[in-house]
Amino acid sequence: MATVATLAIPSTTNICVTEDYSPTKKRHTELHDLPTPQEVDIPLPPPSFLPTEILDLDKGTPDHHVPRDPRLLRLTGVHPFNVEPPLTALFNEGFLTSPELFYVRNHGPVPQVRDQDIPEWSVRIEGLVDNPVTLSMRDIVENYDQITAPITLVCAGNRRKEQNTVRKSKGFSWGPSGLSTALFTGPMMADILRSARPRRGAKFVCMEGADRLPNGFYGTSVKLNWALDRNKGIMLAYKMNGEPLTPDHGRPLRVVVPGQIGGRSVKWLTRLIVTDTPSDNWYHVNDNRVLPTMVSPEMSAQDKKWWTDERYAIYDLNVNSATVYPEHEERLDLTTSGELYTAKGYAYAGGGRRITRVELSLDKGKSWRLAEIKYAEDRYREYEGELFGGKVDMWQRETCFCWSFWSLAIPVADLQDSDALLVRAMDDAMSVQPRDMYWSVLGMMNNPWFRVAITKEGNSLIFEHPTHPTKAGGWMEKVKKSGGDLTNGYWGERQQSDEPLEQAPVKEICMKKDGVSRIISLDELKINSSNGEPWFVVDGEVYDGTAFLEGHPGGAISITSSAGLDVSEDFLAIHSETAKAMMPDYHIGTLRPDAIKALKNSTQPTPGERRPTFLQPNAWFKLKLSEKKTVSWDTKIFVFQLEHDTQTLGLPIGQHLMIKLNDPISNEPIIRSYTPISEGNLQGRMELLVKIYHPGTNTPGGRMTMALDRLPLGADVDCKGPTGRFEYLGKGEVLISGKKRPVQSMKMICGGTGITPIFQVLRAVMQDTNDSTSFVVLDGNRLEEDILCRSELEMYAEQHAQRCRVVHTLTQGSESWKGRRGRISETLLQEFAAPEELSMVLICGPPAMEQFAKRTLLAQGWAESDLHFF
Ligand code: MTE
Repeated sequence: MATVATLAIPSTTNICVTEDYSPTKKRHTELHDLPTPQEVDIPLPPPSFLPTEILDLDKGTPDHHVPRDPRLLRLTGVHPFNVEPPLTALFNEGFLTSPELFYVRNHGPVPQVRDQDIPEWSVRIEGLVDNPVTLSMRDIVENYDQITAPITLVCAGNRRKEQNTVRKSKGFSWGPSGLSTALFTGPMMADILRSARPRRGAKFVCMEGADRLPNGFYGTSVKLNWALDRNKGIMLAYKMNGEPLTPDHGRPLRVVVPGQIGGRSVKWLTRLIVTDTPSDNWYHVNDNRVLPTMVSPEMSAQDKKWWTDERYAIYDLNVNSATVYPEHEERLDLTTSGELYTAKGYAYAGGGRRITRVELSLDKGKSWRLAEIKYAEDRYREYEGELFGGKVDMWQRETCFCWSFWSLAIPVADLQDSDALLVRAMDDAMSVQPRDMYWSVLGMMNNPWFRVAITKEGNSLIFEHPTHPTKAGGWMEKVKKSGGDLTNGYWGERQQSDEPLEQAPVKEICMKKDGVSRIISLDELKINSSNGEPWFVVDGEVYDGTAFLEGHPGGAISITSSAGLDVSEDFLAIHSETAKAMMPDYHIGTLRPDAIKALKNSTQPTPGERRPTFLQPNAWFKLKLSEKKTVSWDTKIFVFQLEHDTQTLGLPIGQHLMIKLNDPISNEPIIRSYTPISEGNLQGRMELLVKIYHPGTNTPGGRMTMALDRLPLGADVDCKGPTGRFEYLGKGEVLISGKKRPVQSMKMICGGTGITPIFQVLRAVMQDTNDSTSFVVLDGNRLEEDILCRSELEMYAEQHAQRCRVVHTLTQGSESWKGRRGRISETLLQEFAAPEELSMVLICGPPAMEQFAKRTLLAQGWAESDLHFF
């Protein structure tokens, strides 16, 4: 529990920016370092052992500079870093949480800030102010009154896994540890804003961080009058528990908005903008809202009005509580347990409101017992003086901005007679946690009674929390799996006759078409799928995705990559109810029962099997990322290890493979098609040349390329193939949509990484001394350094001048560039790609380039069947 000790407080604390941020000085809280003018009883920060090592997991990510504690549970894969501490570890640290165990919510990479740059870190205060100013860290630390205050930050997603178990929301799962408490030190935001003199009519203060994300910098707003009200306690902080902020928590400077959801406490603060309307930052608009419960993910995607209605934006936290003891999966031995068991947990409320009661029930909420509440925060009200360089000045402030702890000794015999321990808290506005969950699209502010299920096993009682943040299990999942309706008001339990009205269970969405009775064999499924009709299986039913190839939001590849497969797991995990309701239109039959198992087996690797070639058209297999080689500022070669040293990829020349990995932000699978740059007969590995599309001012960046870039070494990706209508058979023979075709020459038109499939074909011809096919490669890029595979292309052109011509054209070539300039134009196509007998054109590049090439080449006399787009 909260560590209460006698702390020696310094009478004066000299705030020196450079010393405070000294890179070499170890900044663990050393209590004996502090002078002892006065003695008080306040909860101390727990001993802090700030990690200094970069975890292997983080090394290949943009956060390769951030040391972290391995105990934290990663909720969205490796990156971005969204973590909560294990619940018991968090609780056992006491009232204050050490920075290394404090939960983290990062939307993207952590800005890298060097020690020597910190004194010059600046915050601009602008907008509707008479005196716009830019303040440096030095100004902020030296020219304003400093305060130190204990504050609990809570992510609006705390306990979201319970919502996701009932019905998938748009947010990732959090357990009940999405909250932590620290002593924050810095100036009041009110003082900072007043020095910029806000104008009449100003109503909001927008805040912006330095983290560059797919939709711009992170930002949000709060009301200006709150920020100016000292009772609301809004501050700028540069210390946490007396130490400089760690990189994950906003080093060197962040906002802390007590009593409100963590999402308003902007980290890595660079701007405060005073406005008359709420922030229009993408993250303010699209995040941190509780939309009405009947608004489905699709409704919210279709109508922007849901997101701009300020009534649904969350500011104050709601009242909430959770049980820590009994722990999840704790076993109580009745032969040794004694007569009483002390249940313990936490409770908090929002907006400065105080938790005034916590109640526990063992009979489904028919009767309640009052728990004891401890408010460690109150100890600071009694204290007057300075702490870690800030004045502790809470004596007259009535607001409660921290979590409280509850406990209740319960007769073990009562636990034995019960099926669940329920807890609910109430605040001083008499707001009480509800029995039933309020589900909403973003799954935020989840606060129904916290239920710990109790089961008897021999001489023991077993306790189960609703969920585990990162593992399977918890009573909710069990109830759901056994067909219980979690929303029936009784936690999915079937009702006894003496209990109140049972609600009708939620209707499952039927994905089958009435009247479809066709039984489909495994052979039929495979044959049709390989003939270009993308048939796939969900829950034993067969669907034909042909009609949806054009309209699918994930692109045609999301359907073609499922052809011939049982995709139940992926499909059900990511598709919304609206998508499921569309499925009857594509339903064509039922897979023969024996085929369901056979299909599963045919797509699983047999343990111990050494497959000579890696790729399988009807199954995803795993590849391990073993190396990333930098080619240019935005282009890398990703090296993947095959299953064993002598395995080859098995990719015919000119064909592609599909790569699937989970989006680290939404956790949804992304699938893209690639052509490796490595040779098909290379043993043991495969190399992909990838241009990373980083976010720009108005562009969100490429989801797949950014996800690949963030992938740590040693991580797996799923891979399947080959795919593609085109194959180069060698010696002037091409296979296109299954038909052979002779060619004497090929015109190859490409841009950027579009060179990769073209290069595969060109290299195969150049390496075969008996192949006399001739080539022109017309390669468009922006800058000279954007030209990929340049040395190889030029080598071929030099060694085989008779039959290989390479023409580069640049839109932004430097003054020294001697080649062609401008985009791939009509003139260039006329000059280098005019129609010929026994010839064809291969094209691969950005969509606009491909469309232009198609229009122009058709106008110049090529037939549509002569053009192949990779
Ligand atoms: N500030 C920036 N600049 N970028 C972010 O991703 N995340 C917000 C908030 N401030 C975020 C941010 C969210 S949603 C939360 S809950 C808190 O930071 C988490 O603070 P912590 O990571 O220090 O616990």
